[in-house]
Parts: sequence; C-alpha cells; structure tokens
Amino acid sequence: MARIFITGSSDGLGLMAARLLIEQGHSVAAEGGIRAAVVLHARSQQRADEAQNKLPAAESVVVGDLTSITQTRHIADQVNQLGTFDAVIHNAGIGYQEPKRIVTEDGLSHVLAVNTIAPYILTALITRPKRLVYLSSVLHQDGDPSLNDLIWADRSWVGRQAYADTKLHDVLLAFAIARRWPSNLSNALEPGWVPTKMGGSSATDDLDQAYRTQVWLAVSDAPAALVSGEYFYHMNRKHPLPATRDVSLQDRLLDFCSRVTGVELPA
Ligand SMILES: NC(=O)c1ccc[n+]([C@@H]2O[C@H](COP(=O)([O-])OP(=O)(O)OC[C@H]3O[C@@H](n4cnc5c(N)ncnc54)[C@H](OP(=O)(O)O)[C@@H]3O)[C@@H](O)[C@H]2O)c1
Repeated sequence: MARIFITGSSDGLGLMAARLLIEQGHSVAAEGGIRAAVVLHARSQQRADEAQNKLPAAESVVVGDLTSITQTRHIADQVNQLGTFDAVIHNAGIGYQEPKRIVTEDGLSHVLAVNTIAPYILTALITRPKRLVYLSSVLHQDGDPSLNDLIWADRSWVGRQAYADTKLHDVLLAFAIARRWPSNLSNALEPGWVPTKMGGSSATDDLDQAYRTQVWLAVSDAPAALVSGEYFYHMNRKHPLPATRDVSLQDRLLDFCSRVTGVELPA
C-alpha cells in the first residue's frame, strides 16, 4: 500500500494512472470505509468535482492552477496538510500547439510555467516523498540545452520548440533531484505519443501502456523500478539526451527556477 499524489489528474494519463493505482488496491482506512490513497489534482473546483466524480474512491482532490506561482505554492500547502506521500507523480502538462506566446501573471510563458516551474515548486515545497516521477516526452531530445532565453522574451515563438524545451527541463529536474537527494528515487519517463486531449486523435502509440510506467515507478518494488536518475519508456530504461547528464546544466536550471519563483530547493 502506498500513498500517491498525481498532478494533472482530472484527465488524460494522470487520471488513468490514478485509476490503475486504485484498482491495484492502494487504499487507506478512513471515516466511512476504505479510501484509495491516491490524491488527485485539478485546476479549478469544477474540474476537481468532475475528477472526484470520475474516481469516487480517490482520497481527495487538491485544487490550483499551475500557471500561477501563488496557486502552485498553495497546492503544495494543501498536499502537506494531507500528510506525507510515498510518491509524487509530476504529470500535469500542456502541449506543443500554443500558436503564440501566452504570458502568465508572473511574466512567464504559459508552457514554461506549467511544465517546468510548477514541478520545480512542488518538488521543493511538498514534504519530500520517497519517490518522484516526472513526465517528459521523446520531444525532449529536441529541447534547447543552452537554456538561453527560457521565458521566450527574445526568440520568435515556436510552440513545438517551447514544449520540447520544457520536456528537457523535466528530465534535468528529475536527474538533479536524484543527485541532490540520494535517499529518494527520482526518475523521468516518456509515455509515447498517445491519444489524450494533449496527444490528439492521430496519436499512434499504445494508450494502455502510456500511464503504466508512471504507476510502476511510483509503487513497484521490482528491482528495475527501484533506481534513481534514470529515464524510461514503457517500463524499460532508455537513453535520454546526453546533455541531461550535465550537472552544470541541471544546476543552472535549478538556479533559474529558484530565481524566478523565490523558492529554494531544500538541500
Ligand atoms: N499525450 C501524449 O502523447 C504525451 C506525449 C509525451 C508526453 N506527454 C506528457 O504526459 C503528461 C500528461 O499528458 P496528457 O496527454 O495526459 O495530457 P492531457 O490529457 O491534456 O491532461 C493534462 C492534465 O494536466 C492538467 N493541467 C493542464 N494545465 C493545467 C494547469 N494550468 N493547472 C492545473 N492542471 C493543469 C489538465 O487539466 P484539465 O483536464 O483541466 O485540462 C489535465 O488533467 C504531460 O506532462 C505531457 O507532457 C504526453
């Protein structure tokens, strides 16, 4: 039995992962009977109610819009008020099709805020779980390892590139955490191109496989899952972009995130 928090679990792979964990029997005794020890996350109260209706056995749903640093900090507070977690799955994300640079209330690009800054804040502020899992993408291979102009102030907007950059950041973040917190397990994965709201109906990879790796990394006691600082696809290790192993690059990303959020990563 494990207790797991999954970001972006009102839909898509996050919701599917939560459903699988509940089916696997990750549950706790609570008032009114057994409750699944899976905590969901949704952007608004309306989406939270919809998520809870889809998965009534989930323990609860925390609410907050990841485009906002203030709201993301509040998500961490809500999670910490619920107690400690065995695993946190940083699953929420937005895709590669934004036609123009959308600027958040914090002056960041929308994609960067949700895909890079939010998992950094939640990693730093949620009471440290035993395992951390970060959703990346095969497109991280096209991410810009210079880490220049992360907020797209000087570049002409290319939505696909902005997305690829953030998915590279997710791997850098996972590997930085693996290095900085050696007692915890921190890994990244790509789910494949699958037909969720983000992936779209033309996606060709196996949807049934797409959410299993995050569940496996979060709870499995198989030796292959009890590793840290690795990158996976369909429960197999895969080589990420070599630049993700660059410690100075990992640290530069952490420094950037710390500077723009004012949130320090605990040692
Ligand atoms: N699908 C693919 O082909 C594919 C490929 C490679 C990697 N991935 C990665 O897999 C992860 C999950 O993707 P998915 O395909 O399941 O996407 P999805 O179906 O679009 O679901 C994304 C989830 O994130 C939530 N979310 C998005 N923006 C948010 C915000 N500002 N605040 C709070 N929640 C927010 C969504 O909430 P709403 O339901 O309210 O929108 C939804 O629950 C992402 O990190 C993605 O980059 C997916």
